[in-house]
Amino acid sequence: MQEPDPAVIGQDGAIQNFMGEITRHARASNGYVLELGCGKGTGSTLAIQRGLKNHPTPLHISVDIQFQLEWRPQVDWWFFVKGDTRDEVTYDAVEGLAGRQPGLIFMDTQHNGDQMRRELELWSPMATKSTVWLFHDPYMWEHPNMYDRMHAISVFAHRNGWTYEDYRTEQHGLGRMMKS
Ligand SMILES: C[S@@+](CC[C@H](N)C(=O)[O-])C[C@H]1O[C@@H](n2cnc3c(N)ncnc32)[C@H](O)[C@@H]1O
Repeated sequence: MQEPDPAVIGQDGAIQNFMGEITRHARASNGYVLELGCGKGTGSTLAIQRGLKNHPTPLHISVDIQFQLEWRPQVDWWFFVKGDTRDEVTYDAVEGLAGRQPGLIFMDTQHNGDQMRRELELWSPMATKSTVWLFHDPYMWEHPNMYDRMHAISVFAHRNGWTYEDYRTEQHGLGRMMKS
């Protein structure tokens, strides 16, 4: 796999320190990773690609409201869906492409409570009891409305039988949600 210039890897989304974890979770998944908020492709997208590289049943769908990829995977099992993650049309486009349930859902779009509530409501029907959710930036407390985002996750988890944990607490954090 042709990787981006090392100088840009993980820099744009400040996600460099968690890329190994994202790779490991992708590798351990059922092979289908849904990525909500891929940005330039040089962070979570690359990490997921590394994890799925030798997977027997790989499928990677990246969703973003704008196309700003500066690096993109060159494999026939990667798809980009341009759309709003709060919009049913986007859900339908992803579901139509995938035809299977994601083993890992990676969440990294707008960091506010309304967005998170809507995304969890919209995308959770796709999840199974084996699906793992990763959330980037739970500890980005300087960001306005961050508390409300975390509140949205904990309320959703409590109501729907999911267990949320602050999986990694270094700047800016990585949250994980699974069925217990
Ligand atoms: C923090 S960046 C993602 C960084 C990326 N995960 C990485 O590792 O480099 C957030 C992304 O979410 C996208 N975004 C924001 N609101 C969105 C929405 N409503 N629907 C889809 N994408 C959205 C932005 O365009 C941006 O690319």
